[in-house]
Amino acid sequence: MAKLLIVYWSGTGNTEKMAELIAKGAKAGNADVELKSVSLVSPNIIDGYDVIALGSPSMGVEVIEEDEMEPFVQAIESKLSGKKIALFGSYGWGDGEWMRDWEERMKDCKAEVVGTVIAQDSPEGDSEQECISLGAKLSAL
Ligand SMILES: Cc1cc2nc3c(=O)[nH]c(=O)nc-3n(C[C@H](O)[C@H](O)[C@H](O)COP(=O)(O)O)c2cc1C
Repeated sequence: MAKLLIVYWSGTGNTEKMAELIAKGAKAGNADVELKSVSLVSPNIIDGYDVIALGSPSMGVEVIEEDEMEPFVQAIESKLSGKKIALFGSYGWGDGEWMRDWEERMKDCKAEVVGTVIAQDSPEGDSEQECISLGAKLSAL
């Protein structure tokens, strides 16, 4: 059974909803899913997982959230080589630049980025389905 860790930050609930949809898709594929707000975990949590989904909305000026998610990501960067990573997050008005930059950053750490999903505001319609499909994909890794 695939073991999946999902860690996210969400201020107004949109990225949290995406995390829940990814978990739903993964559970439907019989994955063992751990879903955690970044504020509740230490970076060491990733040690037990080879498949990890990380979520953050676009904050600041096209960056991941800076007070909790950024320190978490910095702390795990040295341990990402060979891990399968999915990235997701909500945005408001940009063109997804924060997600492109985040994906490049994870690839520079030699992580295998297996999927990304972005949703404008709350995940609905196509982006809702994309979250569920990403979860299904992760459950099959
Ligand atoms: C301080 C702040 C900075 C933001 N910066 C951006 C940005 O640079 N680009 C963008 O597209 N959206 C930006 N947004 C909009 C959020 O990404 C958007 O509201 C998102 O849905 C929030 O997700 P959440 O509900 O998971 O917190 C910003 C929002 C806040 C509060």
